[in-house]
Amino acid sequence: MAEAHTVIAIDGPSGAGKGTIARAVATKLGYQYVDTGAMYRAVAWKASLEKVAFDDEAGLSKLTERVIFGFENGRTVIDGDDVTEAIRTPEIDVAAAAVAKLPDVRRALVARQRALGECGGLVMEGRDIGTVVFPNATVKIYLDATADERARRRAADPAHASGKGHDLAFVATALATRDELDRTRAASPLKLAEDADFVDTTGVPVEQVVQRVLTLVHAKLGGSDSE
Ligand code: DC
Repeated sequence: MAEAHTVIAIDGPSGAGKGTIARAVATKLGYQYVDTGAMYRAVAWKASLEKVAFDDEAGLSKLTERVIFGFENGRTVIDGDDVTEAIRTPEIDVAAAAVAKLPDVRRALVARQRALGECGGLVMEGRDIGTVVFPNATVKIYLDATADERARRRAADPAHASGKGHDLAFVATALATRDELDRTRAASPLKLAEDADFVDTTGVPVEQVVQRVLTLVHAKLGGSDSE
């Protein structure tokens, strides 16, 4: 069912289930999956390696324009370095939120994200995909869950070192602080697009959420909601 220029935008706060759902939907549809949060994280990792300060907007945007990203087989690669695990640490959580505040860094990454969508058949997840990156996306989904559930998921996520060695209250506080930053920053804050479908994933099994999203996709594309 891969139609040219079909873009499925999935936005929402940390721990809402975006990664799990977006990956599963992309697999079911045979679409490309892009995690834009990993791009902000990889830029922060590279900046740290090159000792570019997280508030040096000019230096960071130059770095963002020249790096080469790779997203094969669920891995995140930047300039040949596989950073899949290295970008899921408490330090990079904070650094990525800092670089994501900077308008010039966002401009550079949005241009790259749009280029990835040129061939269509894409599921892209982030905070501003339906509002800024692809305002004409075929389907826009905003996933959310209660703060408690999002913190529990983050603490239990084996891909995230952020939760390890800390109690749930610590993870919940760190998550709430970052989400507040994402929601209140001036540049492309996290918000529900007017034409997005809001999906509350609290207590809902993954397969059910995936099916809900597929139903919305098929309704927009005019197909049946079976595979
Ligand atoms: O989804 P994540 O936690 O991996 O994202 C890392 C940071 O990047 C987080 O602070 C939100 C920000 N981000 C953003 O501002 N815009 C996006 N499209 C994706 C992520």
